[in-house]
Amino acid sequence: MDAQPARLDVGDQSLDLAPVKASVGNDGIVITSLLAKTGLVTVDPGFMNTASCTSDITFIDGGKGILRYRGYPIQQLAERSTYLETAYLLIHGELPTAEQLDQFLARIDKHMYLPGDLREILAVQPRAAHPMAVLGAAIQTMACFYPESMDPLNPAAVELATVLLLAKMPTMVSSIYRRASGYAVLYPVRGQGYIENFARMTFQRPGEDPNLPEALIRALDVLLILHADHEQNCSTSTVRLVGSAQANLYASISAGVAALSGPLHGGANEAVLTMLAQIRDSGRDVASFMTKVKNKVDGVKLMGFGHRVYKNYDPRAAIVKKSADEVLDALGVKDELLDIAREVEDIALNDDYFIERKLYPNVDFYTGIVYRAMGFPASMFTPLFAFGRLPGWIAQWREMMNDPATKIGRPRQIYVGPVERDYPPLQQR
Ligand code: ACO
Repeated sequence: MDAQPARLDVGDQSLDLAPVKASVGNDGIVITSLLAKTGLVTVDPGFMNTASCTSDITFIDGGKGILRYRGYPIQQLAERSTYLETAYLLIHGELPTAEQLDQFLARIDKHMYLPGDLREILAVQPRAAHPMAVLGAAIQTMACFYPESMDPLNPAAVELATVLLLAKMPTMVSSIYRRASGYAVLYPVRGQGYIENFARMTFQRPGEDPNLPEALIRALDVLLILHADHEQNCSTSTVRLVGSAQANLYASISAGVAALSGPLHGGANEAVLTMLAQIRDSGRDVASFMTKVKNKVDGVKLMGFGHRVYKNYDPRAAIVKKSADEVLDALGVKDELLDIAREVEDIALNDDYFIERKLYPNVDFYTGIVYRAMGFPASMFTPLFAFGRLPGWIAQWREMMNDPATKIGRPRQIYVGPVERDYPPLQQR
């Protein structure tokens, strides 16, 4: 069915609002002329009902639990693709041919090293610094090292910045982790493979076998794919907004990292682990914890459950749950927290409180357990999220820059402060 025009009556004025047709999902109506024609602005805190753009990149149907990148279901990508191939898909719109993929991988492989001075900058940050603060600063600083890739209106410069960001992200994340943990920072090895390099630079310990289990490498790849894009979320909207001022890609991505550092956005998987540990330490009484959640005792929530968009099982959570079993088996890790998580989920999925409110596990419910089994401390969970989300941020920024409808982002407000008054002299205040 065609998108329907809407008519809005304001006093004795009638306005026809043009429709915007979606290929699948919610259609829209254009309200841009409202202010000029009626003197009214629309109010929508949190953008609960505002589409800031049209986009070809990611589709979510939260009611049905669907997530697709460029039309491809997340399950198929997680099963058959790799993080870098998915990055190419998100950024360029189509899956690469074998030749395109080879060229893309070779270009990234060539740029994985960090220039010495950038390594120095990472090395002088306090060891106790939050990894997200260091990561945001490092990405912003890349602009100082590669000025030839800064022009947001030059396609070759943007392509170079894209490759440099994707290439250096794993090296930066592993360097930040190694420095915080007190281990020597390792170099990437040309031709070793992207995820393999990241895993080795992160986990190799002095005197230990550098060969890591294949299941760990694949699980890392899949976790990054699952986080690669999620349409107009807080950090992605931030990247677009900063970029709409024609700020360079590094500045825009660094702003996305800043948004993701907020606990309401990137920090829930850490909170899940804390919650599961509390249940374990209080005698593993899952049933009474669930009763507290349902009775809203002291605002206790089931962390890793519920989502603003998904009112069904988050498709990413189902994939991570399977991965958790495989990784723990492959690494020979037995984690009581995974058993508790399964027990919590079983109770919740069969309990009216959660069923009526459509509360299902979200992507964060099992990711912390998998990362912990791999050996990551909780402070690295959000940088790993940023690593995964990087291709989505880049793809969304590039789409915005190439969209002729883009204007600098500049919301309106409803002013509710004092009306005009006279400036009183200091003695009269
Ligand atoms: N545990 C218990 N009850 C919950 C939970 C939860 N995790 N989430 C929502 N509810 C209840 C609310 O108390 C409310 O109950 P009521 O109708 O009796 O008042 C009802 O479900 C609706 O909740 P809202 O807060 O309106 O749902 P909203 O869509 O605004 O919130 C959110 C979504 C913030 C994710 C919420 O579910 C939550 O806090 N979950 C736990 C934190 C979490 O896991 N965050 C990660 C999200 S995924 C991500 O960011 C990558």
